[in-house]
Amino acid sequence: MPSVSSKEKLKIRSLELPLTERFLKAREDFPSLRRVDNGVQLAYLDGPAGTQVPQQVIDAMSRYYATSNANTHGCFITSKETDALLEEARCTAAVFLGTPDSSTISFGANMTTLTFSLSRAIGRTLQDGDEVVISQLDHEANRGPWLTLRERGVVIKEIPVRPNATLDEEEMRSVITERTKLVAIGMSSNAFGTVNNVELARELSANVGAWLFLDAVHYAPHFSIDVQKLDTDFLVCSAYKFYGPHVGMLYSRKGLLEHLETDRLRTQDPTAPFRMETGTLNHAAIVGVRAAIDYLASFGEGSTERERLVTAMNRIASYEHSLAASLYAELGRIAGVTVCGVAFDDPHRAPTVSFTLDGKTPEEICTRMAEHGICVWDGHFYAIRPMEVLGLLEQGGVTRVGISLYNTSEEIERLLETVRLIASEN
Ligand SMILES: Cc1ncc(COP(=O)(O)O)c(C=O)c1O
Repeated sequence: MPSVSSKEKLKIRSLELPLTERFLKAREDFPSLRRVDNGVQLAYLDGPAGTQVPQQVIDAMSRYYATSNANTHGCFITSKETDALLEEARCTAAVFLGTPDSSTISFGANMTTLTFSLSRAIGRTLQDGDEVVISQLDHEANRGPWLTLRERGVVIKEIPVRPNATLDEEEMRSVITERTKLVAIGMSSNAFGTVNNVELARELSANVGAWLFLDAVHYAPHFSIDVQKLDTDFLVCSAYKFYGPHVGMLYSRKGLLEHLETDRLRTQDPTAPFRMETGTLNHAAIVGVRAAIDYLASFGEGSTERERLVTAMNRIASYEHSLAASLYAELGRIAGVTVCGVAFDDPHRAPTVSFTLDGKTPEEICTRMAEHGICVWDGHFYAIRPMEVLGLLEQGGVTRVGISLYNTSEEIERLLETVRLIASEN
């Protein structure tokens, strides 16, 4: 946990400064932003693959190892401290996702592992001919685990993706039927930044009594989440995408996990949320999850952690949106560049901008960017299905630029200059 004094300092700073300066100042919290390669300071525009970590999170994790490291449920002090720290982290994660009930939050290695475990458990409740609806836009981690259910005779239907990287809502209406038992869709695309109409998915799935599973991995770093308002049955996210360590989190509506035959040992606590948690968890990292959420909350204001988180996420969204919108517009002006996905006139658009450049593969572009100290990704980022459908896979996918709260307009300008340079070499 960050010490009270550093938390207070952050809070005061965030109230005093205008938006841009507040985020510029936040850069001091991230030691890795000082990293220099080939004499150039690195510009981390790779947030969708994992964000950098502030000192507050690093300190919380080191403090755990230095003072409280133990296994759970022992009679001695460090074990009791570990139990308390894990429960505090669970409570904070619950607040982050908009529920007062920490028993709805299970931790795991990452989103993919949790989703595979859940798909096996849900699969045991399904019969031959039952249907599960997934989408063509999603990351493979929200497709592969459900596709394995075909082995049990479950029929998997796909909501198609349109050329502008949005889901076809008319098709969503027709693929969700009385036979649908589960709809598994992403809140936001990690490849194109699209934000999906999950309210429609909820309405349609509720009409036929199907469960809703939301992949919030790409959404959680940019917008606040309210599982109660979403009325979702399950939601997953990963803390390493929002300034925390490599830990996955699963929200399950109260009472649901108890109905599922999860993979578990006879020695394991059969109640929720532990029913989904096998083996010894990464305690230090879970302590780090709490610190990461507290860190996010420090950008907001209000009398409760939830209020601080919601205001913080709104500020983060607005700051990132302005950088991403100008990046999207400027990239579109470079000859030979095709920018993917929908425009930034919708404020609810994740700040992730992908593009292709005639005559250069995404790998060539990213290699050249790296020479200029710019960290960006090429390829399909495991969102391989939309790349296939949109005909982008054969050319090596796309180049993806992700904006995080520590990015600056200077970094965007540096990136644009480099793209202009690469384009001019064609
Ligand atoms: C949208 C989305 N879903 C799922 C995942 C998988 O998350 P994890 O690495 O925690 O398994 C990712 C990772 O990039 C992602 O971006």
